[in-house]
Order: sequence, then structure tokens, then C-alpha cells
Amino acid sequence: MRTQVGIVGAGPSGLMLSHLLHRASIDSVVVESRSREAIEATIRAGVLEQGTIDLMVETGVGSRLMREGFRHHGFELRVDGHGHRIDMHDLTDGKSVMVYPQHEVLKDLIAARLADGGQIAFETRNTSVHDVSGNPLIRYTDKDGQAQELHCDLIAGCDGSYGVCRQAIPEALRKEYLRIYPFGWFGILANAAPSSDELIYARHDRGFALISTRSDTVQRMYFQCDPGDRVDNWSDDRIWNELQSRVTGDGFRLKEGEIFQRNIVPMRSFVCEPMQHGRMFIAGDAAHTVPPTGAKGLNLAIADVAVLAPAMVDYFQHNHAGGLEAYSATAMRRVWRAQHFSWWFTSMMHRQDGASEFDARRQRAELDMILQSRTAAKVLAENYVGLPMAPQSLN
Ligand code: PHB
Repeated sequence: MRTQVGIVGAGPSGLMLSHLLHRASIDSVVVESRSREAIEATIRAGVLEQGTIDLMVETGVGSRLMREGFRHHGFELRVDGHGHRIDMHDLTDGKSVMVYPQHEVLKDLIAARLADGGQIAFETRNTSVHDVSGNPLIRYTDKDGQAQELHCDLIAGCDGSYGVCRQAIPEALRKEYLRIYPFGWFGILANAAPSSDELIYARHDRGFALISTRSDTVQRMYFQCDPGDRVDNWSDDRIWNELQSRVTGDGFRLKEGEIFQRNIVPMRSFVCEPMQHGRMFIAGDAAHTVPPTGAKGLNLAIADVAVLAPAMVDYFQHNHAGGLEAYSATAMRRVWRAQHFSWWFTSMMHRQDGASEFDARRQRAELDMILQSRTAAKVLAENYVGLPMAPQSLN
């Protein structure tokens, strides 16, 4: 088999890239280890930045998002039980975000690709990439057990944090930046009514909590925990008590319900540089991870391919490789801005065990700055709704 762009991974970056390329008549094949059913059934977070929303709508995959997504004009910062609204819409001259789970984005992209005749090989095994600096080749075993070879002009590595593509950049040529946080998030999904119209990011002496939503009947909530803790250590009563204690105040209480999923999310920040080796380009979690506090992961994956797709189109249509050569540096700039924001928001909102008393007071003063200064609140809101998709050169 032969294609112009071989894409490893049917996550947000791989599917969006395939979709954008198709719109410019560039052929691609997506190779994915999971089944379509598993991808569509894995309930994932989804806070879509304005730029992600715009890209989906402008490229014809936004109609269900517009019908079923929840538009959020603000969120709440809750500090020691007192709520403060961050009015994103007002602070950013009219921008907002939409809550629309990631697996719904994937459903829409998969449906669009298949309707447009796109090829996605699901349930593949043993995927490997070869000769990425010469004649790129993807080898895999298809779902019928047949060995396949996919020859490509270019490869896009969109195969997540644990995929094979990043590893195909020789160690001597790649630099990895990693920060591991000394806390995790205990996450639950519960059958309950929403407790609030907007997301709540709570800072409390017992630790951080986040009140989010999946639908009118399913709610997603998290509380800061020890990353080495285990879900079995927590009864439902203990979970609700912990969550309530971190957010209750000003007459507010969470609506409780049956908890049907529990997991502990580790928190880390990671960047691999460069995002290119030869004719292979990595995007999304294959290249970087952010802690979930800023809700940037999915948006960053989409932003990468918003840079990569036009560069690939330029290469095929005009034989111009300048965009591809600049891809890593262009994407990196935005990646590091999102890294900084995710780290900053995380650091400001979490309990820091072992911090000095000076640092504890300094952290509290930082939060006061957001609550008291419109200029500071603007910085938070502007980053939360998202930076421009393809940043203009800052030089
Ligand atoms: C979620 O709904 O799972 C969610 C929302 C906002 C975040 C992180 C996760 O910042």
C-alpha cells in the first residue's frame, strides 16, 4: 500500500490532520491500535478552546458540537469555600469555551473521515515506523492478522505519550523535558445532576478540587490526591465527604449521585523537542503532555495539526518544504506557552505539601492577585480560552 501521509494514531491530532489533508485533496491512511467502539466509548475530558471550535466549524465537523456542546462564558475560582466568577467572555472581548467531551469530537471526526472515503485501519498490532529519513514505511498487523506495509511520502506520529513514533527520533537528536508533580487527581464519574452551570476550580487547605460535567445526567469531578493512592482505599462516602469539604461554602453543596467510575490521574508536564525527524512529524501527546488543570491537552493536539496540515499541503501542492522545516519551531512556541500556563494554574491551585510557610503565603497572594486585579484575571482568562491557533512569528 502507498499513501501520501501515513498517520499513526486515531486520536484528535491524527484524525483532524487526516480530515484537513483530505480537504486539500491530500491522501492519508490512519493506523490505530484500538477499535472504533473502544475509542468512541472511552469517556474523556473536553473543554474546547475558541480556536478548536472555529476550526471544527469552518471545516464542516462542528454541527453536532454546535447543537449539543455546552457554551461556557465563565468559570468559578472557589477559594476556601468562597466563589469568584472569572468572566472569560468579558475579559477576552467575547471569547468562550465549549464543554464537549473528547470522544464526541472523535466520533464526529471518524464519521466525517469514513463518509469522505477516508481509510482508518482499526485494531492494528505491532505498528512500527522505518526509514523516516529516507523512504518512510509503516509496518503493522491488521485486524485479520495480515502483515501490512504502508509506504508514505511523510509520516505523522499522532500516537500519544506511549507510542512508537517519538522513539523513532534518535535519542541523540531529541531532548526531553519532564516535570512530575507530587500529587495526582482522583477522578469520578457520577450519575447526578449538574451542581453548577459552570466549571468550578477550587483551592482549599485540604487540596484542589474540580467540578466538571459530561452531560445533564453525568458529572465529572476530581480532587487532589497522593499519586500513589489507590481507588480501593476510597468508599463512596469518603469520596463525597472529601469533595464536599473542598467546595462547600456560601450555601453551595454538590449534588451527589451513584459513582460509576473512579481513577487516579498522574500529573506531569512533558515536552519532546524537536517535533520532527526526517520525513516524520510528531503531534499531540506524542510530543507533549500537560497537567489537566488548564484543559489544554486536546486543544494543543489540534493546534499542532493546524500548523502541520497547511505545511504538508504546501509541500505536496507547491513542492515547498519551508513550512515543514519550520513546523517544530512554530508549534514549540505555542506548546511552551501552554506548558507555562498549565504549570502556573496547577501550581497556584494545588496544596503544596512540604512548601515553606513563605511559599504558602506567596501562593495565596498570587491567587489574591487574580481575584483583585482585572489585569491579572485577564491573563488567566486569555490563556484559558486559548492562544491564537497558528501564532504569528514573534521575532
Ligand atoms: C474534565 O471535564 O474532565 C476536565 C475539565 C477541565 C479540566 C480538566 C478536566 O481542566
